[in-house]
Amino acid sequence: ATILVLNGPNLNLLGTREPGHYGQATLAQIQRALEETAQSEGHRLQFLQSNAEHLLIEAIHKAPQDDVSYIIINPAAFTHTSVALRDALLAVAIPFIEVHLSNVHAREPFRAHSYFSDVAVGVISGLGAEGYALALRAVLSRLAQDQQ
Ligand code: DQA
Repeated sequence: ATILVLNGPNLNLLGTREPGHYGQATLAQIQRALEETAQSEGHRLQFLQSNAEHLLIEAIHKAPQDDVSYIIINPAAFTHTSVALRDALLAVAIPFIEVHLSNVHAREPFRAHSYFSDVAVGVISGLGAEGYALALRAVLSRLAQDQQ
């Protein structure tokens, strides 16, 4: 199956950006680890980071044509602002897992609200880069269950 991994604004700066909140791993390192896991289990990974809301929306619009079965998304700051990204995910009706490196509930109050969590399959927050690996594990076990 094809799994789409989306990352929102400023996540291209991982590695140097506020390491106390976001850790030392770069987005390239995270991408490589996810690709290795997906490939070793016979799946394809599409990966996109963008600072532009419309590019993330367009990637979601394209996902059905690309036969994407599952989406893993860290909407970053768009988590707290973007009705448009939420609507895009609802429009294509592809199940998704929401990931945050930091624990958004242990930070400023404005980070506690997400436009995604109530329509996500699940949410992982506060486990750093491992959160992406855990999300991928959950996707792979769900895909395997669906095939039975
Ligand atoms: C984030 C949390 C958001 O509040 C923040 O705007 C980000 C990253 C995280 O991964 O912890 O950019 O989504």
